Amino acid sequence: MKILLVGDVVGRPGREAVKKIIPALRRNECIDFVIANAENIAGGSGLTSETADELLNSQIDVLTSGDHIWKKKEIYERLEKDSRILRPANYPEECPGRGAAVLKSSSGKKVAVVNVIGRVFMNHIDACPFKTAAKEIEKISKDTRIILVDMHAEATSEKIALGRFLDGRVSAVFGTHTHVQTADEKILPRGSAYITDLGMTGPQDSVIGRKADAIIEHFLKCMPIRFEMAENDVELQGAIVEIDESTGKAVSIKRVREKIAEYQ
Ligand SMILES: [Fe+2]
Ligand SMILES: [Fe+2]
Repeated sequence: MKILLVGDVVGRPGREAVKKIIPALRRNECIDFVIANAENIAGGSGLTSETADELLNSQIDVLTSGDHIWKKKEIYERLEKDSRILRPANYPEECPGRGAAVLKSSSGKKVAVVNVIGRVFMNHIDACPFKTAAKEIEKISKDTRIILVDMHAEATSEKIALGRFLDGRVSAVFGTHTHVQTADEKILPRGSAYITDLGMTGPQDSVIGRKADAIIEHFLKCMPIRFEMAENDVELQGAIVEIDESTGKAVSIKRVREKIAEYQ
C-alpha cells in the first residue's frame, strides 16, 4: 500500500495546496492513506476545528502536530474526542488529546500513526520521545504492522537517531517542524523508510512560511516584530512511502514537491 506524508501545512496557502493537489495525487499514485502535519494550518500557528475539517474533508485521513498544537485553545476539546487529530505523545498525560491512533485506510487496512516531539533546541519536554514512541509502538503493534511515526523536531541528529532506534519496528519514521525538505530519504537497514524532514506545504517565497522582510527585521533588531503570512510560490511538499502489507516494512520512499498555479 502507498501512504502520502505531507509536510507542515502552513496557513490558507497551505490549505489551498492540499485541496488542489491531494485529490489528484491520491488518484494518480493510488494512495491508500494520507497523513499531514497540521500544527500551522490556522493563520500559520495552531489549528482550529474549522481548519482541521477543511483538511480532513480534502482526503487527508489523519492530522499530526507539534509545538504549535496549543496555540489555539478551541481545538483542545476536539483533541479529546477525535482520534484523527494527534498531539505529540510525549507531552504530559494531563494535556488534552492523544499521540497515537489506529485508523482505516481506503482499502480497509489498519494504519497506526504515532506522533512525538523532540527535546533538542525545543521548549522543555520531560518525557523521552524515544521511550514514548517505543511504548506506543509496542501497544499498537498487536493491532497492525503498518506503523508510521511523525518525529516533530529541530535537530537532525535527534531525528536520525530516532529513525535508527525504531528501524525494523515501524514502516516509516518521518521528520517535521523545520519546514525545509531534506534530500536524505532512504530505507534503513532493517526496513523502515526514513526522511529527516518532509518540508513545508505552503508559501516557499518566505522564511519558513512568513514574509521575509519582518523576519529579517526581527533578526537585525532583536525586537518582537509582527510576522505576516507569506503568499507566493505555494508548494505541497512531502513523501510517498510504499509498504509491504504482510510485513509492515517499507518497499520505497520518494519525495514529493508540487507547485500550485498562482495563489489568490
Ligand atoms: Fe511547523
Ligand atoms: Fe513545530
